[in-house]
Amino acid sequence: MRYLEIAGKKPLCGELTIQGPKNAALPVLAACLLGDGPCVIENCPQIQDVEDTLALLRLLGCKTSRSGHIVSVDASGVEHFSIFGAEAERIRSSVLFLGALLGRMGEAALPYPGGCAIGSRPIDLHLAAMEKLGVRFSKRSESGIYANGSQMRGACIHLPQPSVGATENTVLAAVLAEGETVIGNAALEPETEELCRFLNLRGADIRREPDGRIRISGKKVLRPVRYRLDADRIVAGSYLLAGAACGGSIHFHNLPLSQLSALLAVLSRMGVTVTEDGVMRATGRRLAGGNVTTAPYPGFPTDLQSPLMAAFCLAQGTGQICETMFENRFRTAAELRKMGADITIEGNCALVKGNAVLYGADVCAPDLRGGAALVTAALAASGRSRIQGYGYIARGYENICRDFQGLGAEIRLVDDEDKRVW
Ligand code: EPZ
Repeated sequence: MRYLEIAGKKPLCGELTIQGPKNAALPVLAACLLGDGPCVIENCPQIQDVEDTLALLRLLGCKTSRSGHIVSVDASGVEHFSIFGAEAERIRSSVLFLGALLGRMGEAALPYPGGCAIGSRPIDLHLAAMEKLGVRFSKRSESGIYANGSQMRGACIHLPQPSVGATENTVLAAVLAEGETVIGNAALEPETEELCRFLNLRGADIRREPDGRIRISGKKVLRPVRYRLDADRIVAGSYLLAGAACGGSIHFHNLPLSQLSALLAVLSRMGVTVTEDGVMRATGRRLAGGNVTTAPYPGFPTDLQSPLMAAFCLAQGTGQICETMFENRFRTAAELRKMGADITIEGNCALVKGNAVLYGADVCAPDLRGGAALVTAALAASGRSRIQGYGYIARGYENICRDFQGLGAEIRLVDDEDKRVW
């Protein structure tokens, strides 16, 4: 198994380029199914979830190739509509193959999705939206989903909550369906916008109404295109919070500032400045905590809740973080307590006592973003820490060691079998 080893208590100073966005790359790769010919995706992050998604595409008959951050997917040879298998059960985004396969093949067979254990993560909203489009589910056995979309037609759909995945799945299924589809209470996340931009470049007709609804006029064919993905706003936010916790000055070359308004407001209250050209300074004044509640975009992102919890440990006073999106996303608190954090969970809120004197410890990442939070805490703590569960972190962070080493941190990845070190 591989673990991270960190010697903390050093400011983070240097320059950084943010990787491509996991949560946009995954739906865009699924959308490559919706037509023949090679789509070329630039700035595609080299992370496990992308590799698992490419494996699913190959399972279906696609030809895929990668050269650095450029990935090519040619769906001309797609013959199957089933993705049962290990990868599909590992990642949450495999559920997006439901819409993409219905759009391409008119049928889909897939297991219930995996993903971080941050809550029950049902897919009822996905299935209800598909049924509105005329999809029939032959059987929902314990193992998975069997869907027939041969009678799919555009429809008016209203999502009870602005689910990112349900929005993206509905877009993927409707974009080639006859007729018009309108999605009310659709997710506003930048990743969903990026999927629609990619599909429109391919020749789809997807429009965002002023009231947030998504309007899709079904098309017959989509063309292959070359597309460059944005920067990952959650990785960017994780690193901004690490800089806040450790102090220092980081120059980000491609910070997606417009997508980080909620975090920037919290950082500003904490006494951290971020300039228009992406320079973050967290020097001098002590951090101040505050009250934050996670919410759908453009609210404070649930994916930055754990990294914020780590940063609040170093702030003045008591900070409160309320989690409204997932019911099991405070598991990092127990690991942070091993490092000296004073965190109390009351209902769906975490009370984080500031001015903590964090010390190095052996901890274990409970999930992807919790792992990033533990890295932040270990970088700010005095002494050495070991963080198990690197596999979670590698699902979303391309090379967290390289990124923080470039900012002067003492961090390395150790393979405890052959003691190899990165
Ligand atoms: C996406 O997950 C992201 N994952 C998550 O990022 C992110 O936390 C989440 O959106 C919210 O922004 C990917 O894009 C691959 P949702 P998703 O459907 O689509 C409930 C990360 O760390 N819900 O918007 O699964 C659900 O339980 C990951 O990168 C239903 O009840 O999130 C949750 O409470 C973690 N029924 C809320 O909606 C459904 O059918 C939001 O979920 C679907 C969702």
